[in-house]
Amino acid sequence: MTAPDRPALATAAPTTPAAAAAGLPEPPPLGASALPDGTFAGTTVLVTGGGTGLGLATATEFARLGATLAIASRKPEHLEAGRTALEASGATVVTATCDIRDPDQVAAAFDTVEQSAGLPGVLVNNAAANFPVPAEDMSPNAWRTVVDITLNGTFFCAREFARRHLAAGTPGSIVNIGASYAWTGGPGFAHSAAAKAGVKNMVETLAVEWGPYGIQVNGLVPGLFPHEDMTADIRGNLDRTHEKDACQPALRVGRLRELGWAATFLASPYARFVSGHTLVVDGANWQRRSLTNPPVVTVRDQMGKEPFSLEP
Ligand code: HXC
Ligand code: NAP
Repeated sequence: MTAPDRPALATAAPTTPAAAAAGLPEPPPLGASALPDGTFAGTTVLVTGGGTGLGLATATEFARLGATLAIASRKPEHLEAGRTALEASGATVVTATCDIRDPDQVAAAFDTVEQSAGLPGVLVNNAAANFPVPAEDMSPNAWRTVVDITLNGTFFCAREFARRHLAAGTPGSIVNIGASYAWTGGPGFAHSAAAKAGVKNMVETLAVEWGPYGIQVNGLVPGLFPHEDMTADIRGNLDRTHEKDACQPALRVGRLRELGWAATFLASPYARFVSGHTLVVDGANWQRRSLTNPPVVTVRDQMGKEPFSLEP
């Protein structure tokens, strides 16, 4: 592993009584890995939504450790961008066009992957949907859409993966990507927060149901990881906060590789006895951080919306 830019906490002796607030140190550089080379050689890893953002960053870390990558999502342009990036990391790549809301499309995507790269040994349920909207403005279809993609789609992919492994008598590992508002609630994101709470709960159930068959199920929660593929809705929401680093207890946002490293660990042979767990990688951003409560500002006001009206 390459040495980090700053000394590890364990070796940094305090030189002054009161340390300046510099935040959590930067991680090792892109390309470094805590796991041995070839940890995933001979393993196919399926990442839903693996052509963009955190899904692609996660797929890249598996590729660096020797995995064959399969990525599945709706848009061919995302899949092709992912293929190009992953092949540049040396991986063999299979793509499958798939809307995870449709169980038949999920089964067809698994067929495509299995025919050319074998049954995936690892499934990263990363695909999700989200946009900010005050709950009172949310249409029934907006609610259904986000819950359908984030909660139902995650279950359909996990179910397909498990049924194939149970039939084959082979072990596997599932990592479900979550969000910390599964615990706290998510003002402005009622649909996504409820769906992610379901995803976290599903981890705990499926880990028990499928553990006896050798299938490990864990959750992985990213904190704030800005990236260029973010949708206009999510980017617009982030732009409401000018000082993104200063708003984190770590005094910095996450580096994409930090989530990828956590995913590779959870799915690796070194974490075989970790199951039913949801790991949060967010620099403690989801904890309460104030001595006193900050003033309440409604979601409408935060979004610059007019007072609610029943008129359309
Ligand atoms: C209010 C909205 C809306 C918005 C869509 N809708 N965007 N309502 N505010 N900004 C409503 C539509 O009007 C429609 O309802 C319903 O939602 C479905 O919209 P469609 O465009 O028909 O859906 P679809 O084409 O299936 O696209 C799904 C999508 C889209 C979720 C709307 O954004 C998408 O494809 N997202 C995928 C990527 C994504 O969301 N990434 C974010 C993950 S980040 P009506 O009633 O009009 O029919 C993440 C971060 C968590 O999760 C932490 C953040 C802090
Ligand atoms: P993103 O770039 O928008 O990724 C979402 C991916 O999901 C896209 O590749 C998209 O591909 C795919 N997808 C969406 N709907 C789909 C559907 N119906 N069927 C198949 N694929 C679909 O967002 P991201 O920031 O990388 O988020 C990745 C994960 O991290 C999500 O689970 C998200 O909730 C979680 N998360 C992210 C952050 C953050 O700060 N970035 C914070 C907390 C949690 P197509 O458009 O091609 O279908």
